[in-house]
Amino acid sequence: MFYSKIKAVGAYVPEYTVTNDDLSKIVDTNDEWISSRSGIRRRHFSKGENTSDLAAKAAEVILKKAGVKAEDVELIVVASVSPDYATPSVSCLVQSKIGAVNAVAFDIGAACSGFVFGLSTADKFIKSGVYKNALVIGSEVLSKYLDFEDRGTCVLFGDGAGGAFLERSEEGGILSEDMGSDGARGLSLTSGFRNVVNPYCEGERFIHSYIEMDGREIFDFATRTVPKSVEALIEKAGISVEDIDIVVPHQANARIVQIVARKLKIPMEKFYLNMEEYGNTSSASIPIALNEMDNKGLIKKGDTVLITGFGAGLTWGSMLIKF
Ligand code: COA
Repeated sequence: MFYSKIKAVGAYVPEYTVTNDDLSKIVDTNDEWISSRSGIRRRHFSKGENTSDLAAKAAEVILKKAGVKAEDVELIVVASVSPDYATPSVSCLVQSKIGAVNAVAFDIGAACSGFVFGLSTADKFIKSGVYKNALVIGSEVLSKYLDFEDRGTCVLFGDGAGGAFLERSEEGGILSEDMGSDGARGLSLTSGFRNVVNPYCEGERFIHSYIEMDGREIFDFATRTVPKSVEALIEKAGISVEDIDIVVPHQANARIVQIVARKLKIPMEKFYLNMEEYGNTSSASIPIALNEMDNKGLIKKGDTVLITGFGAGLTWGSMLIKF
């Protein structure tokens, strides 16, 4: 039986920052509203780099930290809802940009749960003996999907990429997971819709490329579903809440995290929050946070870390990882 272990985490975030006050100059909002409702004060926006550029730069950081050459990477999984193209995939673009000539590369779409779903997918390939290692990345340039006339969404999201290098190990690593989806509620958070118009099916072209969201519905979903997912995970793993050293939630909203913490009776001190600096970077938010903690020495060898993502689909995923 094989396990997969995280050998290194890394991230790359565009340098350019936009504060809440900056946004209030182009849309009817203010710092007090945004920060009190979401905990977000700034976000980083790309000034031209696309999703694969961010992902490739994150990949280079991860491989450097892991001490692994690009040609030795066997699998690349990129989670993204803001790819450069419909095809080629972000992962194939990353493969080319970093020179991972021997890797198999594909993308998965699970929105803000994407990094957890990506780790889970790579874990199965490693556990089954198909591949010995994998690069799993969440990368987003959400700014290209934001309607800067919609104050209900444009203030919440940001751009960035992060990920992890997994390798085969005698011991886990990835200990346990709980994932789920509820497609019936999927239309409460959408982006990138286009209807079918072609010479055989005429009609009005109808494109909804921007992120559109029922904020209340998503808030309600997250605060109900995440605690249940974490409870299911803890039960499957046969551990207690006290055994968890650190919780890295998807960085969508500080109020959501506070409610989740209260319901799970986990002290807020165990949660790592950085949405103040980055906003919601969807699939990239958890690995950006892991990388920041790693750089600050906040994750020690042997720590049991709970990561939990939730978002469009609707999807959710929680995972216990021994570092
Ligand atoms: N600045 C100022 N006012 C704003 C605003 C902004 N950026 N966005 C909305 N408002 C206004 C609304 O127009 C509304 O005004 P009205 O009462 O005059 O109609 C008022 O604020 C309340 O809006 P509402 O949408 O009810 O606010 P809310 O308390 O539900 O908070 C969210 C909105 C989006 C912050 C909240 O619902 C949320 O965080 N949801 C989860 C979103 C999320 O995390 N999505 C990603 C998941 S991966």
